[in-house]
Amino acid sequence: MSEQLQVEDWARPSAQSLRELVDLEAGRISPRIFWDEAIYRLELERIFARCWIFVAHESQVAGPGDFLTTTIGEDGVIVARGNDGQVRVFLNACPHRGNRVCFAEAGNARRFTCNYHGWAFGRDGALLGMPAEEIYEKTCPDFDKSEMGLMQARVGSYKGLIFATFDPGAPSLDDYLGDYRWYLDVLLDTDEGGTEFLTGNIKSWIDCNWKVPAENFVGDSLHAQWTHNSGAVAMLGGGVGKAKQDSVYQANANGHGMQFGFDMVGNVMTLGEPEVVEYIREREALVAERLGKLRSRMVGAMGSATLFPHFSFLAGLNTIRTWNPRVRSGRSCTPGCW
Ligand code: FES
Repeated sequence: MSEQLQVEDWARPSAQSLRELVDLEAGRISPRIFWDEAIYRLELERIFARCWIFVAHESQVAGPGDFLTTTIGEDGVIVARGNDGQVRVFLNACPHRGNRVCFAEAGNARRFTCNYHGWAFGRDGALLGMPAEEIYEKTCPDFDKSEMGLMQARVGSYKGLIFATFDPGAPSLDDYLGDYRWYLDVLLDTDEGGTEFLTGNIKSWIDCNWKVPAENFVGDSLHAQWTHNSGAVAMLGGGVGKAKQDSVYQANANGHGMQFGFDMVGNVMTLGEPEVVEYIREREALVAERLGKLRSRMVGAMGSATLFPHFSFLAGLNTIRTWNPRVRSGRSCTPGCW
């Protein structure tokens, strides 16, 4: 590890400097990757601007005009379903002078109207019109409304999950997910009805780098027997068993990862409730028909995963999370990057 590097070397760290932060043989990384602002900026540029980023579940924008706002990296985006049924993802910035176009978290809209000069965009992102349109045409002879729509990202979906990327050169979503789809299906494809997002999500600011929780979901099962133990005692009258930790498996595919166990129905993840256990046992047989015996043993069991870079899920509990990098307003990017 080269911790002797001067601060000025890090305005734009070289590939060599970055490689020295990770010691693959010893299995160690430099803590610098969690606090260095230059690295964080590179992550926005090379990861969040180029990867396929999860933005919504299909059921969150089920009908024409349904929309929600979220972020890709630090950039705001609008996810909206058009009249043609297609889901599109727009940069939440007006092509006129860059004002934020949509301030609502979610809803249904006939159009998106910028509150600065009143440019109005359709559900498909096209510029429909604006007040005093003749002035634009008079003062700007080349003004072409058809070229002034909201900036669109590429959009792809996999079994209910919608992803977007602003990189025209990114591989297809199927190639990006690769063999990881085998694991994703434990969450997404256990029933012919697919999945549905139950409304109500929780948003929190956490004062840490986004990689900390992303990595936690894919490589840190050891914390459970300590961090979650008091909760298990309070709810179940028993702690998180050590034995369970001995049968946790880890798998990686295409840069995405998952840690999971088998045959753990009835453990802390399902709260030990007899009705829940019975239900999961019934489901197990159906899932075996659909996904095979091996994956049916993962259903209802502990399983936490991160799809690179920032989409995590708990297979047993069917909850999903995203770790969005954001600079908390008025604060330094480090170490509060999120
Ligand atoms: S900045 Fe949006 S209408 Fe001018």
